[in-house]
Amino acid sequence: MHERITPLFSEEQIRVRVKELGVQLTADYAGKVPVVVGLLNGVFPFMADLVRAMDLDMDVSFMQVASYHGGTESTGEVHILKDLDRSIQGRHLLVVEDIVDTGLTLHKVRNLLKDREPLSIKVCTLLDKPSRRKIEVPVHYVGFTIPDHFVIGYGLDLDGKYRNLPYVGVYHP
Ligand code: IMP
Ligand code: MG
Repeated sequence: MHERITPLFSEEQIRVRVKELGVQLTADYAGKVPVVVGLLNGVFPFMADLVRAMDLDMDVSFMQVASYHGGTESTGEVHILKDLDRSIQGRHLLVVEDIVDTGLTLHKVRNLLKDREPLSIKVCTLLDKPSRRKIEVPVHYVGFTIPDHFVIGYGLDLDGKYRNLPYVGVYHP
């Protein structure tokens, strides 16, 4: 049925890794009440699993942006489709992403959030493709580092499809 997809990380592998991230984040944010900011749409399964692996008081909020990667531009506009539902001034932010590829989206989101004067900003991504980076952006927590493959599943899509696959696979066009 999904003959163009090679499994990369199974449900079980993801479950184990997300638990590990949760343990690490629980320790690192002990005594704090972070705002965990999920970037829609791709983040929704990861976010749901990650926050349930964090044994902490927290606020959870979502943001959706559209990023236009025109040419070599790296500091251009990011269009907010859905904004956070709370102030983040003076708060510790944990920004959660599905995947960091060129880094352009995250770079822009980071600048936008920084203007709102949070106390700290850290980033947690399920997947990281460092070989594709066009701009350096700090990523503090990484589920899995992967080579330059186009991946789908567990929130990641191809033209809106495959987000509901419970595992992550490589899509072969
Ligand atoms: P960046 O600005 O290039 O880092 O783009 C990050 C966004 O591109 C992610 O949030 C995804 O929506 C999308 N993206 C990048 N690589 C992949 C992939 O392999 N599969 C699915 N979406 C991807
Ligand atoms: Mg996305």
